[in-house]
Amino acid sequence: MKIVVVGTGYVGLVSGTCFSQTGVDVVCVDVDERKINMLNNGHIPIYEPGLEDIFKFNVEKGRLLFTANLKDSLDEAEAVFIAVGTPPDEDGSADLKYVLGVAREIGRNIDHYMVIVTKSTVPVGTSMKVKAAIQEELKKRNVDIPFDVASNPEFLKEGSAVDDFLKPDRIVVGIESPEAEKTMRKLYKPFLLNGHPILFMDISSSEMTKYAANAMLATRISFMNDIANLCELVGADIGMVRKGIGSDARIGNKFIYPGTGYGGSCFPKDVQALVRTADECGHSLDILKAVEAVNYRQKEVLIKKIKLHFGDNLKGLKFGMWGLSFKPKTDDMREAPSLVIIDILLKEGASVVAYDPVAKEEAHRILGDSIAYAKDEYDACIDADALIIVTEWPEFRMPNFRVIEKLLKTKTIFDGRNIYEPDEMQELKFNYYSIGRKSIVVSK
Ligand SMILES: NC(=O)c1ccc[n+]([C@@H]2O[C@H](COP(=O)([O-])OP(=O)(O)OC[C@H]3O[C@@H](n4cnc5c(N)ncnc54)[C@H](O)[C@@H]3O)[C@@H](O)[C@H]2O)c1
Repeated sequence: MKIVVVGTGYVGLVSGTCFSQTGVDVVCVDVDERKINMLNNGHIPIYEPGLEDIFKFNVEKGRLLFTANLKDSLDEAEAVFIAVGTPPDEDGSADLKYVLGVAREIGRNIDHYMVIVTKSTVPVGTSMKVKAAIQEELKKRNVDIPFDVASNPEFLKEGSAVDDFLKPDRIVVGIESPEAEKTMRKLYKPFLLNGHPILFMDISSSEMTKYAANAMLATRISFMNDIANLCELVGADIGMVRKGIGSDARIGNKFIYPGTGYGGSCFPKDVQALVRTADECGHSLDILKAVEAVNYRQKEVLIKKIKLHFGDNLKGLKFGMWGLSFKPKTDDMREAPSLVIIDILLKEGASVVAYDPVAKEEAHRILGDSIAYAKDEYDACIDADALIIVTEWPEFRMPNFRVIEKLLKTKTIFDGRNIYEPDEMQELKFNYYSIGRKSIVVSK
């Protein structure tokens, strides 16, 4: 079996590589020739745990190829997956120009039956637009080539994308023909030997499932962040509250960790796009509007605490920062809370020295030399007025506080991920501010 995956970003590259692991021939296509050259030279443009090994294995086997030429890749393909970006348009709706551009190119070039599968996160109705774009191109060519469209949203999480793809909780597929169902069933069978289901449904429900899933997860995060803020005001501890509610089987303990707001390439844009879809239908998704508003506010919560400690004037202060990526185990910085915090600190005349285990290169691409980059976590603390923790990389969990206290100008930590215990920090005589828990103020 041969398939094509268009787009070699976090989703396309992981999907293509994991499909090839089952023995399928995969051609990955991208318009970004720099990426294609890197991949053809054996280098992976993103950081994703576990990807490199299976990438190398399948490239060596000759069943994972990379090209910028979509036209030639289509030869004998049974399915084409569209996994290109769907960034937010100016009004927050999903910009479909890349998805529909690929659809038109497919229409200009197919010469046999295949299933065109939308894997990008797209609003309800997009697969029908993909179908119309292909039909339009076929009409221009004056040919009648049968094809089917399908929707197959992706639920992988950056940082554990390979594992998520190889061992999915479920596969969701929207189809409108038995042929498309057969192809998708065949392709996914090796991933479902553990008994997890493949759920076939109509295409609109499949497209909506992806948005509903991300909207639900974003809602949990904003809900917990808002409860955390309230905990501080009433003297409760969000850590205890989280355990208290997380052990309720109806609630569960995932996605209820408070922090500095959700970021990444998905939640912010997908929540916005769903709000926009609803607005267009004359329905106000008030819950999600609140989820977004709470998230904006939460990204500034550490700044509030910093001002509480140092006063409103931050000019001349220097901050060490641990973590730049939007979450651990990825170098993705799209919508990362670190960017908001850095932006405010720099505008207010402070300086930042940051350390991230993998996102330094990506950070430099975005921030240039507006901040300094430390070689390790301790280096980021040298002569800093305080340390700010933005991303909960595992290696930050048990640092040597005796070293940190010697390096910092004042023993002050703003922990946006609650990775230390307030009582321990009190014993160590650190000023310690976290989210939704009591602050420890030893000296100002
Ligand atoms: N990143 C995630 O964790 C994740 C998870 C689930 C779903 N998604 C969705 O999957 C889609 C892709 O996300 P991503 O994070 O992989 O994006 P990305 O920005 O990392 O990658 C997109 C790739 O598509 C390429 N591209 C754009 N136009 C193209 C064209 N015409 N032909 C070929 N390649 C083209 C770009 O060069 C880029 O390499 C989005 O809709 C996103 O919402 C992302």
